Amino acid sequence: MMKQMGVTMVVGMVVASSSVSTEAAGKEKGLLDPNRIVNVAHRGASGYAPEHTMAAYEIGHKTLKADYIEIDLQMTKDGQLIAMHDETVDRTTNGSGAVKDKTLSEIKELDAGSWFNEAYPAYAEEHYKGLSVPTLDEIFERYGKHANYYIETKSPEVYPRMEKKLVEKLSQYGLSSDRIRQGQVMIQSFSRDSLLKVKELDHQLPLVQLLEASETTRLTTKDLQVIQSYAVGVGPSFKSLTRENTKQIRDNGLLLHPYTVNEKADMKRMLDYGVTGVFTNYADRFNEVLRTYKNKK
Ligand code: G3P
Ligand code: CA
Repeated sequence: MMKQMGVTMVVGMVVASSSVSTEAAGKEKGLLDPNRIVNVAHRGASGYAPEHTMAAYEIGHKTLKADYIEIDLQMTKDGQLIAMHDETVDRTTNGSGAVKDKTLSEIKELDAGSWFNEAYPAYAEEHYKGLSVPTLDEIFERYGKHANYYIETKSPEVYPRMEKKLVEKLSQYGLSSDRIRQGQVMIQSFSRDSLLKVKELDHQLPLVQLLEASETTRLTTKDLQVIQSYAVGVGPSFKSLTRENTKQIRDNGLLLHPYTVNEKADMKRMLDYGVTGVFTNYADRFNEVLRTYKNKK
């Protein structure tokens, strides 16, 4: 459906337009409201475009109207924050090797789009060829205060200065203070140490503790109280959620944003359990499910 309806059109917009939608901007106040269900475009609209490229962010933000763009951070040898999921460039570019061993200019030479065309021919687009790996600066320069960001500190043990750089960038682009209190920027990590580092640097940033499936299935109320002392929410694998542990998490005052929910049946089940949003590669599907869900209520 999306292929016919939007990708070609969207790629045209990516190339032709520098304007951005203000629809999802964080000036709205409800993003941290536990009654608000948020739609997080996981690695951008990564079901339709190469993950963590400007094309994927543009589709997620502008076309599919997700509430948040999700960004995984890695850091280059010369200390630049870039959007990439893996510690190495191998899977999502035509290069190889660790991000930490490459300068930004070396990263910028890589093609971050062609792999997608080969892996997902149904969604392949000529324009994806040669897309570059975006820096956090480039993302903030493009969207500024007109988008909401759900940012993950990846591999923080590899990049000890990552949190400081991130908090500096938020301040540089005017994404601090009131805006972060309203949930325009969320910081997520599997590493509690990394989240606590962020908190020390800026105690107002809303934090989300990501959880591996094995952690979620053995969560105690005491664990949740500890998480609640520094974070506004948790992000578990959706496969580890049950009606019971969803209630337990919500009863402890935490937002609940499971990853990565791509099938409509799972989206519906998550809503029935009582989650407050999902990470998805298909933000359009979740918006459809949400519309039906709200109409039924
Ligand atoms: O950040 C939520 C989810 O993205 C965690 O998993 O591996 O896709 O970063 P991953
Ligand atoms: Ca992530």
